[in-house]
Order: sequence, then C-alpha cells, then structure tokens
Amino acid sequence: MTSVHPPVVSYPLPRLPVPIEPAPELLSLARQSPVNLSLLTLLAHPAQRARLQAGPALLPGAVEELIRYVQLSSALPPARVTTEEVTLGGVTIPAGGMVFTLFVIANRDPAAFPDPDTFDITRQLGTHLGFGVGAHHCLGAQLARAELTEAFRGLLGRLSGARLAVGADQLRFKENMTITSLMELPVTWGAGDGTGQ
Ligand code: HEM
Repeated sequence: MTSVHPPVVSYPLPRLPVPIEPAPELLSLARQSPVNLSLLTLLAHPAQRARLQAGPALLPGAVEELIRYVQLSSALPPARVTTEEVTLGGVTIPAGGMVFTLFVIANRDPAAFPDPDTFDITRQLGTHLGFGVGAHHCLGAQLARAELTEAFRGLLGRLSGARLAVGADQLRFKENMTITSLMELPVTWGAGDGTGQ
C-alpha cells in the first residue's frame, strides 16, 4: 500500500492489513510504536534532535510535534456514519453515509499547520488531531504523552552522534498491522550524515 500523503521520513508504509492484529497486540503496539517511530523521526532530523538535547525544556512541545508528525496509523482509518445530511468541504454527504476520518492527513493540513511536512519541535502548535477528537478521543492520550516524555528524557543524553545504521528504504516493518510498527531500528554511533549514509 502506498501512502496517500508524503510519508514521515520516507519510510514505506506497510501493506493494507488483512487480517488485523488481535486486540492485546494492538494495545501493546499503541505503546511501543509511538516511541520507536518518534526515535526514528529524531534520528532522521539530527538538527532538531540537537536542539532538543541542548534545550530539554523543549521536550513537552517536541512530544506534541512528534504526535502530530509521526504517522502512527495510515491503514484502516476510523469510520463514522453521518446521522444527518452534512456538507463538508463543499461535498454533501447524505444521512447514513460513511466517512473515514484520516487524522494523519488532517495533521498535515497546510491551512492548520504552516509548512506541515516540516518536523519542527518549536512549532507553536495550538492543537492537533493526533489523538482524534470528540467522543472517541484517544483513551490512552495522557499515557502516551507520559511514555514519550519519559522515554526521551532518558534517551536524549545517549543519542549524541547516533544515526540510522541503514538507509530509510531498508527499514523493515511488520506486515498486517493497523499500527505502523518497525521490526527493528538499527542505530549506530559515529561518522555519517545522520540518515544511515
Ligand atoms: C502516540 C500514541 C497514540 C496515538 C497517536 C493514538 C491515537 C488515537 C486516535 C487518533 C484515536 C481515535 C480513533 C477514532 O476516532 O476512532 C484513538 C483512540 C483510542 N486509543 Fe489511542 N493513540 C495512542 C496511544 C494509545 C495508548 C497508549 C492506548 C492505551 C494503552 C490507546 C488507547 C485508545 C483507545 C482505547 C481508543 C478508543 C477510544 C474510543 O473509541 O472511545 N491509545 N487513539
């Protein structure tokens, strides 16, 4: 499957998941993958990482920007059924119509986020749709924020000189997953341009 939007750091999205993973694994991935993909994002953006290492006070904003920027799930977007006729973006959807809420795409809306494909930990982010909105807003949002914050509070000091040990196109992802999930994240320390080259 190809992304309908430029992918985060040019990593390939997994193919459409059929069948999908069982619920316990889904919950487990909801906790592992944000940290893994956020680490990948920071490795792919060495200048942003250096700013964060130099200014740990930027961490809360960086975590929100990671949640906006990282495409945790592009497959099987949540579906909603309209209870009445509604016009969205000039398109009229009848009552009982199915709408797919692509939060990852909304998070790259240039009308809401200037230069949306740029990862910028100092972005003045009023809000984002990384955790959805309304009745189904993510139940794990605060847990996810706390896990990302603590993971990077612990990891940042160890990442000086770290870079991907392989090219982004060589990263391997688990298949048949609704949540984008790495098989492994090869990291090395030393010379290189920070992108595995
Ligand atoms: C950065 C990490 C995470 C992101 C980006 C994320 C994103 C989302 C999004 C966009 C939704 C809304 C789905 C919809 O509108 O139908 C959602 C719902 C949900 N999330 Fe998360 N999530 C994350 C972490 C977690 C964690 C760690 C847990 C639990 C341990 C969790 C549990 C749930 C549950 C149970 C729902 C369904 C809520 C409902 O339908 O009422 N999430 N999440």
